[in-house]
Amino acid sequence: MRTECVPVSAASLSRAASLLRAGEVVAFPTETVYGLGADALQPQAVLRIFKAKERPADNPLIAHIADRDMLPLLAASVPDIAVRLMDAFWPGPLTLILPKTQAVPDGVSAGLSTVAVRMPSHPAARALIREVGSPIAAPSANRSGSPSPTTAAHVMADLEGRIPMILDGGPCDVGLESTVLDLTGGIPTVLRPGGVTVEMLRTVVPDVRVDEAVLRPLQQDAQVRSPGLKHRHYAPKAHVTIVAGAPQDVVARAVYLYDEAKAKGQSPALLCAAAHVSAYGDRHIHVLGGSPEEMSAHLYDALRTLDDEGTDLILAEVTGTDGIGLALMNRLLRAANFDVVDA
Ligand code: TXA
Ligand code: MG
Repeated sequence: MRTECVPVSAASLSRAASLLRAGEVVAFPTETVYGLGADALQPQAVLRIFKAKERPADNPLIAHIADRDMLPLLAASVPDIAVRLMDAFWPGPLTLILPKTQAVPDGVSAGLSTVAVRMPSHPAARALIREVGSPIAAPSANRSGSPSPTTAAHVMADLEGRIPMILDGGPCDVGLESTVLDLTGGIPTVLRPGGVTVEMLRTVVPDVRVDEAVLRPLQQDAQVRSPGLKHRHYAPKAHVTIVAGAPQDVVARAVYLYDEAKAKGQSPALLCAAAHVSAYGDRHIHVLGGSPEEMSAHLYDALRTLDDEGTDLILAEVTGTDGIGLALMNRLLRAANFDVVDA
């Protein structure tokens, strides 16, 4: 199959919408990462997503809507708390887990009794959903297991020849996937941190809690609330080690590990904050940015770029867990398979 990669325009949006109505899959930009979409109400179309991505069948998808009118198609009931969260954070990077209707195909919910719903803020994503006239199921548009795509080129690298079309809307703003908040289990629980931070959620839901698995490996016998948590995620080909501790210790330890790897004939690289650049001398560094927001926006591109450069060891500086930092650290920990060295 030839994969066409075209800039977002009225014409390309309308062709993408025709493909989606016909039961095909199309990759499109959102404010978080690129999604691989299919009409959420066509079971056969949804299965094509799993095939193109080689996604495990037990990992459910997020259904994207453009207007709240579409919500009753998906959610069997919408608690008050959900309405208040939608008022505050939709459209935007917040996914809500709600009880599902019969209309939601098993492929979308992976057999669960719940459905994940989000209203993206990206204008192209919303225009596409409106033009299709149906919710769009979309996971991130990467091959399962590799970092999520934040540019059309990333999608092309992973899915060329497997999907008919990519809508190119430039680089994504947030760069990390949406916050996933479970509203079906008593206390509202963050299953995956993202652009709508825990601090922001607390302004509306003071008692929100963060699932243990966000910063820790899953216990073998733990009940998995979000099936996505148990699959290795966001991982480049290179081995990733996180160096944790006080800033000056982190730099010293990272330098030590870098030089040790180099002496063994490896190709290490340092993933660091802008403030630390000078401390690393002429070693191979990749700067994520100055602020946590900038670092989040660049993380996945950095992991892919370092892979393309043939890096085999990525030494990543630990980050704070305030605000978007929690999402950044969550993704880094998974990319590193929880390999953390204490400086
Ligand atoms: O920002 C995003 O959310 C992007 C863009 C494209 O919107 N999408 C995305 O989809 O990241 P995906 O499939 O890569 O991640 C969806 C996450 C997975 O961790 C999945 O397990 C979880 O949401 N999820 C989906 N439905 C669920 C459900 N009913 N209950 C619990 N977790 C669910
Ligand atoms: Mg994903």
